[in-house]
Amino acid sequence: MDFDLKTLGPAGASGEKCDALVVLVMQGAALGKDALSRLVAQALKAGDLETKPGHLLQAWRSAGIAAPRLLLVGCGDATGAQVRTAVQGAVAALRASKVRRLTLCLPAQAGDDAVRAAVIAVADASYTYVTTKSNGEGRKIEQVSIGVANADASRQAFEQAAATVKGIELAKEWANRPPNHATPTHLGEAAKALAKAHGLECEVLGPREVAKLGMGSFMAVAQGSEEPLRFIVLRYNGAAKGDAPLVLIGKGITFDTGGISIKPSAEMDEMKFDMGGAASVLGAFRAVAQLRPSINLVGLIASCENMPDGRAVKPGDVVTSMSGQTIEILNTDAEGRLILCDALTYAERFKPKAVVDIATLTGACVVALGAVRSGMFASDDDLAQALQAAGDAALDPCWRMPLDDDYAEGLKTNFADVANIAGRAGGAVVAAKFLQRFTKAYPWGHLDIAGTAWKGGVAKGSTGRPVGLLVEFIMGQQGEPPAKPVRKAARHK
Ligand code: BES
Ligand code: MN
Ligand code: ZN
Repeated sequence: MDFDLKTLGPAGASGEKCDALVVLVMQGAALGKDALSRLVAQALKAGDLETKPGHLLQAWRSAGIAAPRLLLVGCGDATGAQVRTAVQGAVAALRASKVRRLTLCLPAQAGDDAVRAAVIAVADASYTYVTTKSNGEGRKIEQVSIGVANADASRQAFEQAAATVKGIELAKEWANRPPNHATPTHLGEAAKALAKAHGLECEVLGPREVAKLGMGSFMAVAQGSEEPLRFIVLRYNGAAKGDAPLVLIGKGITFDTGGISIKPSAEMDEMKFDMGGAASVLGAFRAVAQLRPSINLVGLIASCENMPDGRAVKPGDVVTSMSGQTIEILNTDAEGRLILCDALTYAERFKPKAVVDIATLTGACVVALGAVRSGMFASDDDLAQALQAAGDAALDPCWRMPLDDDYAEGLKTNFADVANIAGRAGGAVVAAKFLQRFTKAYPWGHLDIAGTAWKGGVAKGSTGRPVGLLVEFIMGQQGEPPAKPVRKAARHK
């Protein structure tokens, strides 16, 4: 799907040659004398069109309008969220049609938020997964022109959104692929291909290299599977060599059966999405490769399957992590933290200005925040604020959760330095407290995307979240001074 941006008022929009013209109608907008404006004014007056976000009026071959299909859609005050609702409605209405070229005309007052929301929502609402369907017909819409009052003024927001779409769609593609089509090996190859196509650096480590690094915790999770683990290192260098990088870490469990602590069968297929964090790291790199921000970025993906097997790790086993800390694995289903802790230790070698891990980590986070906001934890207030603001701006929101040390009490054990589970209460926080033990060397953020990375039910599929948040966050980190050391800035300790 290709996007372009053009300066387009209502008069210009009337003459647009496309298969469908979608016009977003704002509350209280001044209307001119051209054919389109008059039509809008009449429809509003007759009560057949409302400016309520998403309210839709369709017409065919309207007088004075070049496009055969015309959709007038209310968009309220044209905030990002309202534009998203409006565009979702319009694209849903066109889903069964043959429309290939679409022009989407935003109100003259639309700001950058509206432009970004429009681009991302068109892509999101028209996305179709095809890879493993034999008659895979993709989305019909091929070309989308976004019409704004001043294309030059909206250019930057538009470019960021178009790149974000590429990232979101890469993340969706990999997260949606069935687990036998998205193994750790496949993810490693995808990272290599991404790097090759876009001038990134990529290194993929296998079991031997990972053993040499001493990643005993990661290896313990992988040992129950026939599929070899992969540890992926991606690098984008957009700043001076000595500039401390930002490090993103993705949980890449390509299938989570729970291991010996096996999960119930119902909806277990959805555990193919347990590499959503890894997919979002790939997606963020896809966008960054296109946007070329002046920042150094490292991406780490720890990827393996979590399977039951004669050789699988057992409840009660004690393993030694790369940090040297020993871990008693009391529940093999709490595997995400076991692979992430070694990646967090590995991240130290980059002397990062901040590390953010992204993981479908806990069912408890789904209970706490549902599918609306991702759980966000940070050892540093500035980092927390930046993540929160990025999520809000990208309409991919997160919510800060606490990190009081009291939440770590239940992780104490007589047989190792730490256990991998505590009681059920506050499970998302307990998981974060476990991870925090491995992050003392840098400011650290953690996004628990268990509730936001995919949808179940009839609309089952990856959401591509939190690629939008990550791209916004990364773009905002350009030229930032290094974040303050974690010990001084910590609030939730
Ligand atoms: N991948 C799951 C978390 C998950 C569960 C995400 C359901 C989305 C929906 C994770 O590996 C897991 O199994 N976590 C356990 C931890 C528990 C054993 C402490 C959980 O949340 O039940
Ligand atoms: Mn699990
Ligand atoms: Zn998992």
